[in-house]
Amino acid sequence: MTLREGLLRVRAGEAAHPEAVDALTRLAADHGTPLYVYDAETIREKARALRAAFEPRFPRLGLRYALKANTNVEIVKRVLAEGLAPEVVSEGEVRAALRAGAAGRDVLFTSSSKSPSEIDFALRHDVLLNVDNLDELAQVSAAALRLGTTARISFRINPGVDPDTLHQINTGIPESKFGVHLDGGHARAAYALARALPALAITGVHCHIGSQITETAGYEKTARRMLAFVRELKEELGLTLSFVDLGGGLGIPFADGQAVMTPEDLARALKPIWDEEVELLGYEPELWIEPGRYLVAQAGLMVARVNSVKTTPVKTFVNVDAGFNTLMRPALYGAAHRVRIVGRDGEPMLLDVAGDVCETGDILAEGRLLPRPSAGDLVAFLDAGAYGFVMASEYNARPLPAEVLVDGDAVRVIRKRGTWEELHRSEPEVGPPL
Ligand code: LLP
Repeated sequence: MTLREGLLRVRAGEAAHPEAVDALTRLAADHGTPLYVYDAETIREKARALRAAFEPRFPRLGLRYALKANTNVEIVKRVLAEGLAPEVVSEGEVRAALRAGAAGRDVLFTSSSKSPSEIDFALRHDVLLNVDNLDELAQVSAAALRLGTTARISFRINPGVDPDTLHQINTGIPESKFGVHLDGGHARAAYALARALPALAITGVHCHIGSQITETAGYEKTARRMLAFVRELKEELGLTLSFVDLGGGLGIPFADGQAVMTPEDLARALKPIWDEEVELLGYEPELWIEPGRYLVAQAGLMVARVNSVKTTPVKTFVNVDAGFNTLMRPALYGAAHRVRIVGRDGEPMLLDVAGDVCETGDILAEGRLLPRPSAGDLVAFLDAGAYGFVMASEYNARPLPAEVLVDGDAVRVIRKRGTWEELHRSEPEVGPPL
């Protein structure tokens, strides 16, 4: 029995199986809770499924990993080792990509709000800057001139497409803060302006319509609009682009049996549109795709321990030693991560899994049918490998959780648990630590 087999059983809903119990009991005993546990093989499987879907159909292809989903260096290294390049949103993520061994010139930097120092840092490392607006364009141009370099740029375009996902992660609709609007000639004007600036080299075009997208329709519409725009740039401005980035956003199933678009579905849906538009265009740019969640979410679970179980006149609460400081998605988005009670297979009852943050909204799972656990039991939250640890905080003065990576039967601590000292690391000295 390997640890991985135990983790797979938890995922498959067999958390009472001895292999599942043994794996999580060992991990929790050795590393404490709350704990993020990642499975390296799942990351490799996802990256390979993505490649298998796109590579045969798109000979000119660039696959990227959106680091924001999980910036742990050991995770990033494993994704990059599968042949993906980094897509980042901040200087910190540029640094994370470089730490993982990426070359600066392979990094794509997209953000709607870049500071002057972030722009300088990116230019010094020859990072490809995905420009969000005209104010930023002027700043990038000035910085490149000042540094005596040429800035490689693309524009993030707002294609005005609604992929029908959660409002907070719906990014390509007209009212969104991201990118230059395609409609009204704004995007074309941006390229015309950039073309006239001597310190800039225009490379491609980018968009990202949202996250946790489960159907192909939004991408199809976006691909048509973006490729028509690329044609407009060629015909009107004489520009030839080297890539068209259709963003990330590939959703995953958050419930047992939920049907969700796969990379294969997406690649198959995009193929005829791409071929048709490329024919009209007269040249073939690279197709870029930059998922985050798809690659790492299912590789991770968050394990917490039950502190107490209480039944009020209204509900039964399972109080665990994690909260929205550890896994923010339920409180922030109403996200429903599947929950497995480890080692229990009693009659399911309606339970709320409550976090240890002192706020009413800190419910990690609401109204679930689960076997009743006891204090000391372990609870696993699935699909926590993306936007899990990276969104954690020290709120309520709780140190950050640890992260471990399971590779077969080898376990590696890839982030040590936070310490009491770290909670106050940047405050003035008040004497010896308690
Ligand atoms: N590219 C850009 C420009 C993005 O803004 C994002 C995500 C991605 C790629 C990757 O998207 P993905 O493939 O992971 O869906 N914290 C939220 C998700 C926010 C996504 C923001 N942008 C959550 O926990 O659901």
